[in-house]
Amino acid sequence: MSVDTATDQLPLPPLAQGLPLVHNALAMQQDLMAFLMGEYRQLGPIFRVRALNQEFVVLAGPEANTFVTQEGADKFRSHEVWNDFGCEFDAQHSMLAIDGESHLQMRKLLKPSYSVSRLLSDIPMLVDIGQKVINQFQVGEEVPVLYLFRLIVTEQLGRALANHAPGADLLPTITTIRNSLNVYVSKQKPAFILKFPSYQRAKQRYLKMGQEILAEHRATTRDKKDLVDEILVASDKPAFHDTLGSEGQIAFAALGPFVAGLDTVSNECTFMLYELLSHPDILARCVAEADQLFADSEPTQEQIRSQGVLHAAMKETLRLHSIAPAINRTAAKDFTFAGHQVKEGQNVIIATTVSHFLPELFPDPYAFDVERYSDERREHKQRGSYTPFGVGTHLCLGAGAAEAQIVLVLASLLHLVNVERVAPQAKLRVKMDPTPTFGYNFRVRIGERRHQK
Ligand code: HEM
Repeated sequence: MSVDTATDQLPLPPLAQGLPLVHNALAMQQDLMAFLMGEYRQLGPIFRVRALNQEFVVLAGPEANTFVTQEGADKFRSHEVWNDFGCEFDAQHSMLAIDGESHLQMRKLLKPSYSVSRLLSDIPMLVDIGQKVINQFQVGEEVPVLYLFRLIVTEQLGRALANHAPGADLLPTITTIRNSLNVYVSKQKPAFILKFPSYQRAKQRYLKMGQEILAEHRATTRDKKDLVDEILVASDKPAFHDTLGSEGQIAFAALGPFVAGLDTVSNECTFMLYELLSHPDILARCVAEADQLFADSEPTQEQIRSQGVLHAAMKETLRLHSIAPAINRTAAKDFTFAGHQVKEGQNVIIATTVSHFLPELFPDPYAFDVERYSDERREHKQRGSYTPFGVGTHLCLGAGAAEAQIVLVLASLLHLVNVERVAPQAKLRVKMDPTPTFGYNFRVRIGERRHQK
């Protein structure tokens, strides 16, 4: 345990006012971002909050994002936040749950497999998956948007990174990941829900899919190695004994692509379609750009990654509707920030996306404004301002791939088919399950086919 006497001289972070007994729990549960924004405005970039019997130190705003990025490597650990989730699947020391040297090693191993160029190495296959999913739905059919995108996104990631389509295992995967994250990571649900037979059945199917993927990769060789091949090679090396030493750890890592997009890319695609349908002028520009992307059959990597209006709309969606509005950590040592002390072992919330809503960084911050990303404005390039993929050592390894996938999926949908919102006047509520989501309440009606590839 590290003891820093200089840190002891400094005051504790100010405490947010709250209700007796529950303290800040209700306010945090009702609207986490509004609560964090209010406290940041009142108390500054570091403060304490209490939820029932737990206390957290919150670091917020661009100064906190910059501090964590530049000086945070040895100050935070993620073990307490993420390890139980992996253990649920016999996989302790999974990538999100480790820090230091072994974590760096794991990132180095997996980085090429999670890169944007790897995901986009077979664009015709990705486009074909999108088209087949969209063609499953009849003209006039009403579809929950999140479900539609989960079908496309998870199959694309599964096929591109693990040579496996989830097929009928998608629903058990959703049940497994949603419930286990809600229990172990966001802690919104009690542990007994994991005893329910429906969860247990889903989990067995999910684990069986992992075994099948490993068996298939052990039995065959590919011209181009994929993520699972890389994991299997590394698992024989002593350096990965702690992280990939057991069959459970290997399977959990191999199932990464099936989990990576479920709540993240799929929800962001959903929020983006919602914003486009709410802004017909921007929608029209995106449709025109999508048609251009597909003018010569499939778009190229360069086109998908170019800075057009689809790209700007994707960026703006990630700013306004982050699926990771804050990240949780434990202080790994005593340290100081903004004139206050934080002690080792303290629960920490890094409120990464408070900066997304500060008018001094993003004027009129609640407006969906795709011009923010123009060369003249570049508001997201200000220090610590734009962090939809987290901050620090665990920064999303699939950020580039995710951005490209959102653009490609939306471009495919807009090019292939007309869609209109079901019950456009109804107000949609964003809930936490386990990340911010409309759930299946946002639905569209599939309209006329615009193009067929
Ligand atoms: C818009 C979509 C996505 C968002 C917003 C997102 C966000 C995040 C965030 C905030 C973290 C850090 C969590 C923490 O520090 O506790 C993270 C980690 C990670 N993400 Fe993503 N993610 C997205 C999509 C993806 C995709 C598509 C992949 C894979 C292809 C991916 C792979 C990973 C991996 C491997 C990590 C763990 C990194 C580490 O522990 O070092 N993500 N993501």
